[in-house]
Amino acid sequence: MLLPTSVLCILLAAVGQASDVYQFSSSGRVQLDSNSSVIVQFLNTKDHARHFLLNETAASYHSPANSWGAGTVVANDNTGTWNFHSTEANNFTGPFRFTPVDGLDLHVRRSAGDVLTETYIFENTSPKPVEVTGIRINTPFNDLYDGAAYSLATAVTGHVFTGGAWAWVFAAPMSGKEESLGLILRKGHLWSYSIENTTSSNIRGHILLQPTDKSRNAEAFGGQPSIWIEPGESYTLEWDIALYANQEDFLKATHAPAKFSRFSAPVHEPIFVESDIRPTSPSPDLEIRRAGHGRYMLKSGTHGAYQVDIGNIRTEVSFNYDLKTVVNLRAQYVLDRQRPINLTYPLNASFVPYNTETEAPLVKPWSDKGDGSERLAIPTMLQLGAMKGWLKKETVLPALDQWVDFASTYLFGPQGNTTRCSGCGRNNNRPYDAIWFVGFFNDRYVWLGNESDLDTAVRILNYAYEIESTTDVPMILYSQTVLDLCETLETAGRQDESSYFKQQLITLADKLVAAGQGLPPSEVSYEQAIVEPLVELVADVYRLTNNDTFLQATKDRLDWLLALSGPQPHARQYQIAMRHWDDYWFGERGQFGDVYPHYWSALTSQALLRLPQELRTRRGDGIALDILRSNMLNFFHDGSATCAFVFPSALNGEPAWANDPLANDQDWLLVIWMRALKWGVPPH
Ligand SMILES: *[C@@H]1O[C@H](CO)[C@@H](O)[C@H](O)[C@H]1NC(C)=O
Ligand SMILES: *[C@@H]1O[C@H](CO)[C@@H](O)[C@H](O)[C@H]1NC(C)=O
Ligand SMILES: *[C@@H]1O[C@H](CO)[C@@H](O)[C@H](O)[C@H]1NC(C)=O
Ligand SMILES: *[C@@H]1O[C@H](CO)[C@@H](O)[C@H](O)[C@H]1NC(C)=O
Ligand SMILES: *[C@@H]1O[C@H](CO)[C@@H](O)[C@H](O)[C@H]1NC(C)=O
Ligand SMILES: *[C@@H]1O[C@H](CO)[C@@H](O)[C@H](O)[C@H]1NC(C)=O
Ligand SMILES: *[C@@H]1O[C@H](CO)[C@@H](O)[C@H](O)[C@H]1NC(C)=O
Ligand SMILES: *[C@@H]1O[C@H](CO)[C@@H](O)[C@H](O)[C@H]1NC(C)=O
Ligand SMILES: *[C@@H]1O[C@H](CO)[C@@H](O)[C@H](O)[C@H]1NC(C)=O
Repeated sequence: MLLPTSVLCILLAAVGQASDVYQFSSSGRVQLDSNSSVIVQFLNTKDHARHFLLNETAASYHSPANSWGAGTVVANDNTGTWNFHSTEANNFTGPFRFTPVDGLDLHVRRSAGDVLTETYIFENTSPKPVEVTGIRINTPFNDLYDGAAYSLATAVTGHVFTGGAWAWVFAAPMSGKEESLGLILRKGHLWSYSIENTTSSNIRGHILLQPTDKSRNAEAFGGQPSIWIEPGESYTLEWDIALYANQEDFLKATHAPAKFSRFSAPVHEPIFVESDIRPTSPSPDLEIRRAGHGRYMLKSGTHGAYQVDIGNIRTEVSFNYDLKTVVNLRAQYVLDRQRPINLTYPLNASFVPYNTETEAPLVKPWSDKGDGSERLAIPTMLQLGAMKGWLKKETVLPALDQWVDFASTYLFGPQGNTTRCSGCGRNNNRPYDAIWFVGFFNDRYVWLGNESDLDTAVRILNYAYEIESTTDVPMILYSQTVLDLCETLETAGRQDESSYFKQQLITLADKLVAAGQGLPPSEVSYEQAIVEPLVELVADVYRLTNNDTFLQATKDRLDWLLALSGPQPHARQYQIAMRHWDDYWFGERGQFGDVYPHYWSALTSQALLRLPQELRTRRGDGIALDILRSNMLNFFHDGSATCAFVFPSALNGEPAWANDPLANDQDWLLVIWMRALKWGVPPH
């Protein structure tokens, strides 16, 4: 059914100077450029504001060069491009013909009905075989963080999975409501994807899908193939696009060729795979056994990620050490290596990032790589480990006593003011840091019983409230840290302070719920680490007030949060929230672009585990555990670690798919998991 009708144009006049509009699914619409047959937008008549593709008005970096379906091919080492801008207007179906490089033609056809199908056929018109080592096709999904209001109403998260013949993109509205756009590969392979034009924390960039990226990164995603096309022969790629009511409907439509019981498991525990074809792995450390008809068991005793190949599909599973083992490995490593011991006391007791390639601690007066801020994860992790009896108190306590000397000399002042690192200037007060200090000193009081530590926690929190705007945004770990402090204060008979702090939570929740989708920006204009602390805050305030408004508000915001992670069948990606800026700020490679996994994605675990009883589910608890486990991939068997695995094959043209050499802030995962034990999650 193909309906280039004027009726549809009128219906959709609100969306712009559109030319023709074509229908797919019942409410899906494709909008073509007025000058050519470029697809400029996918729309949903039931969700009027939603733009599934980047819009040049909102995304200044989006240009015709990266329009839908435009691409680049590398054949016999020649690079050529194609773009639908060269086509005539009002021709939806084509067939279009391009000659991106001599001897290789590209034919593209489109058809629309229940689904929109696009077929790309690369034909060798030369008398010799052609070796294709790169094909990248632009799919500029509107994955844009332009403030919460824009993102929730208009943008989508593009969850990309490229497992060869098993490949798809699930473009989910950031509101977590209404239909999602799904692209499902039906012919050919997508062995990788890359990102272009990612230049800030608010811009994920252009997503490019790739049958191969061998010319730029031959090792990525377990290896990129050469595609050989004989004279007169062709290589076909075909995908379809449709709107799906929910994730389940979409996943059903993908016809998954394999079903994994999970993607991450403790070492020595099984992962089961249902598949017609026997899985294989290049790794000798992965045990693969038949476990019934069309059923296989994967297992390993060695911590790490394992590539799994099943016919012409590929993914990864991971097997991980338990929490206590990793905390011990990390403790040994940070105490041995992650202090700048040549500096004078007490700077020599600080914890700093560590370059695992050059084997040197990093001492830089820079907030994201300094000795304060996110590095508070390290003393917090050591302390929690010792409090649990997992680490020896006689080892940890002297190190932390010295660290407290350092912190009280350089990172916080007697009034409770804080700063980001010893070399970052004074009074560079940052709300996150204040909260993290409160957590550390509350723990220290609970552990050692010296009330001066509790006073320190209270002073720092009070100072944060005194500073205008400090506590206007939902902050990572905020409400649970305040409630932990309140519990301690109540036990210590300091009821008034506790009541005051609880009232602050209620005031903020009131304000943020009233703001609806118009949330204030934090360090990124909108992101998982804004909406996740909001979910916890609103849930906590529901518990404090028993007011149903906050229960409903928690439910809504949980949808926003879960829209940021997807069901990709891959150990690094499954339910891991999209974060595309952390390597740039915290890593040595300094690349903007998708990071999978990322320890802050485990905030989503907290949100799920801390839901009000009415909203907590077994499925949610299971996802929470999956996220925690997947993040163990950032820790290695020798106690070293990486702050970020930069995932795509290339970012802005530079190869990625690599562990950043810097161990930096990933220990928050261990802190989050240790704290989460009290909400019933297992430690392995
Ligand atoms: C981009 O957004 C503007 C303003 O909302 C709208 O007029 C235009 O039609 C949109 N273009 C596309 C391609 O979505
Ligand atoms: C249409 O093409 C003309 C001439 O090439 C160009 O000036 C104009 O900007 C184009 N308009 C759009 C919407 O692409
Ligand atoms: C987008 O990225 C490509 C490839 O890196 C580059 O050639 C192009 O100039 C960039 N476009 C913009 C608008 O920055
Ligand atoms: C679309 O363009 C192709 C290639 O130029 C042509 O064969 C086809 O007839 C055109 N279709 C329409 C409806 O104009
Ligand atoms: C401390 O200084 C010694 C001697 O200069 C050097 O070998 C060592 O690597 C330094 N250690 C650290 C942690 O900077
Ligand atoms: C730092 O230096 C002081 C004084 O020399 C020393 O007592 C302390 O053990 C050192 N701490 C570390 C972690 O090296
Ligand atoms: C705290 O504030 C006092 C007074 O302004 C200042 O002297 C001190 O350096 C500050 N401390 C930090 C860690 O910023
Ligand atoms: C409690 O901590 C303060 C500040 O660190 C310290 O001066 C005091 O000696 C401690 N008291 C005890 C009983 O350890
Ligand atoms: C519940 O909270 C909302 C939002 O703050 C408020 O408008 C409403 O009056 C409260 N309801 C009750 C019963 O307190």
